[in-house]
Amino acid sequence: MGRTTPSVTRFFLAFFALAIGLYPAAYLVAPGALPYWSSKSALNSQTWWLVAFYAHILGGGVAMLLGWMQFLPKWRARRIGLHRLFGKIYVASILLFGATGGFVVALFANGGFPSALGFGTLAVLWFAATLRAWTSIRRKDVERHKAWMIRSYALTFAAVTLRLWLPLFTAGFGLPFEQAYIAIAWWCWVPNLIVGEYLVGQLKKE
Ligand code: HEM
Repeated sequence: MGRTTPSVTRFFLAFFALAIGLYPAAYLVAPGALPYWSSKSALNSQTWWLVAFYAHILGGGVAMLLGWMQFLPKWRARRIGLHRLFGKIYVASILLFGATGGFVVALFANGGFPSALGFGTLAVLWFAATLRAWTSIRRKDVERHKAWMIRSYALTFAAVTLRLWLPLFTAGFGLPFEQAYIAIAWWCWVPNLIVGEYLVGQLKKE
């Protein structure tokens, strides 16, 4: 979020980041009450899958909750120490938990091979963009760091866009759930990357 991002856009980004970032907590309280859980009855009693799944959703949730604040220029300027701390937590929660767990979970995603490929590609790109954002700032290359963090968070935001597109594809366009899910495995992140690339372009003009 640059200096010129309208406050209404900031509000919606923050609102969805907080709402979806907190959603994984429901899996700590009552996983069985969530519809996704029963679709995983063949896997949700296996330790390796549970480890990957919980690593994914908790790492992803933390990244989602912390990431949006990092783009607020005034907050960043005033609280540079917190920006650094949150940045380290963001990077670790994606590299060690969110993306690695997400990749394992992706291999067994509902919808079979096409959705596994969509989510798997997303997990690899999410890992790579976040790693590049981190290595750039380790080299003190602030411009590259900003650009890669925009790409990283655009991919983190796939968790929001997935949950906005899915009801539109099923209830709105009338697609059967499985077909919609396969489409969404790609559509939840490809447009985000395009928007991210546009924002990176804007950054260069600032
Ligand atoms: C951006 C990279 C991400 C990838 C590659 C990814 C991948 C996946 C995959 C493959 C599944 C399982 C789908 C299935 O078995 O059919 C899943 C489920 C889930 N993911 Fe992610 N995800 C990402 C981001 C996030 C983030 C940032 C969060 C944090 C909010 C998150 C939270 C969840 C939750 C809660 C589920 C369980 C399904 C549900 O309740 O809707 N994911 N994710």
